[in-house]
Amino acid sequence: MNFVVVGAQWGDEGKGKLIDILSQDVDITVRYQGGNNAGHTVIVGQKEYIFHLIPSAILRPSKTCVIGNGVVVDPKALLEEIDGLKKRGLPMTNRQLKISCNAHVVMPYHRIMDQLRETKRANKIGTTGRGIGPCYSDKIGRMGIRMIDLLNPLVLKSKLKDNLNEKNDIFSKVYGHQRYDFKKVYTEYLNYGRKLKTYICDTSLFLNEAIDRNKKVLFEGAQGTFLDVDFGTYPFVTSSNATIGGVCSGTGVPPTKIGKVIAAVKAYTTRVGEGPFPTEFKQKMNDMIRYKGHEFGSTTGRPRRCGWFDSVLVRYAATINGASDLAIMKLDVLDGIETLKIAVAYKYKGEIYKDFPHDLEVLSNASIIYETIEGWHESTRQARQYRQLPLNARRYIERVEKLVGVKVKYISVGSKRDEIIVR
Ligand code: GDP
Ligand code: IMO
Ligand code: MG
Repeated sequence: MNFVVVGAQWGDEGKGKLIDILSQDVDITVRYQGGNNAGHTVIVGQKEYIFHLIPSAILRPSKTCVIGNGVVVDPKALLEEIDGLKKRGLPMTNRQLKISCNAHVVMPYHRIMDQLRETKRANKIGTTGRGIGPCYSDKIGRMGIRMIDLLNPLVLKSKLKDNLNEKNDIFSKVYGHQRYDFKKVYTEYLNYGRKLKTYICDTSLFLNEAIDRNKKVLFEGAQGTFLDVDFGTYPFVTSSNATIGGVCSGTGVPPTKIGKVIAAVKAYTTRVGEGPFPTEFKQKMNDMIRYKGHEFGSTTGRPRRCGWFDSVLVRYAATINGASDLAIMKLDVLDGIETLKIAVAYKYKGEIYKDFPHDLEVLSNASIIYETIEGWHESTRQARQYRQLPLNARRYIERVEKLVGVKVKYISVGSKRDEIIVR
């Protein structure tokens, strides 16, 4: 069966670790949206790998990894990632990695525009500065440059000319930024095309044909449901559909070929960047969890904001993604906390919100209705079977399960490969 791992909070749920484990039972792993704003961590033995564009299954050389058409690819960042993996002994052949010819390319002016826009905004988003928003804007605005365009000098020339024509004026007149030199960008990107040519193909056909031959595919979500441009805490979101719909539009695989959806959550909540976060901790608890959970962004190194588990949020995520299973990651970070809280509703101006409210005013100012649950003193890190977890940890999991309405199948109790319980 083909299945999807989707983040059900604000990203960094531990998708990378989960994908690394789940990918052993599939043939192909594919990223369907986002770009190198993502940072997916996989720890094998003493080695830590952080993937930004390449699917987290790449450490299994017999498997194929695909960067789907819905992803925005910064070729410079991708080549660095490929070279890094080659240095660490992976062959990185075109059997191992395939890139959609239709994936849009992050250009240097996208990165700079991302940063310039942020500096001008009063309500900052706190983007990763990787050019993701401007690149998707150009895609939808029909100005974008695709991977396949990097392989055709004539097409690249004409598209880049058009783009710089418009953008150089914006850069110089609106932002007082220097203009881009056509020749320089053109040569640089043709060169990227030459280097990446071997990996570029029609991945939609590749995936569909593989599925028709009974190959198993795992779809790797980046970001999370509340960073989704349609369903998230807009405008404090990313520019793609991290949720389930992004799988079909971002790979060309129809919904009839997708079986299961695994929603990944942390046992608590984190968020990087700006925007509402109803269950955010106060300073002291924030510092404690950040330290225990090493909550610093994998891409930008920024400290992550931390808070209690929010069942209002996750129940909504489970609904819109059609979650079949829940994966609860980082349970071990809650070890030793006397009393735990789970948000069950919000309250604002006398009104109770049991379902996720989309009004920024409510999200930013609501008081939170919590349930408290007794914590556990024991370490959960050694547990490999559900029954080996402390009683209160099981109570916590079962309460989450009940509130979200989805069965918890995976429980992660440490960052290493084997620190997982499959129920
Ligand atoms: P992703 O973006 O969803 O792939 O998540 P990140 O890799 O950005 O962040 C998750 C972090 O938590 C990484 O540093 C992982 O190594 C780590 N991690 C994953 N699962 C666990 C776990 O069960 N326990 C602990 N302590 N760390 C974990
Ligand atoms: P993974 O895949 C957490 C956040 C940024 C910012 C907002 C918009 O590792 O879970 P962008 O650069 O995308 O325009 O920034 O989205 N963000 C993430 N937060 N995990 C991620 O990816 C993220 N990718 C983007 O911090 O708030
Ligand atoms: Mg991450």
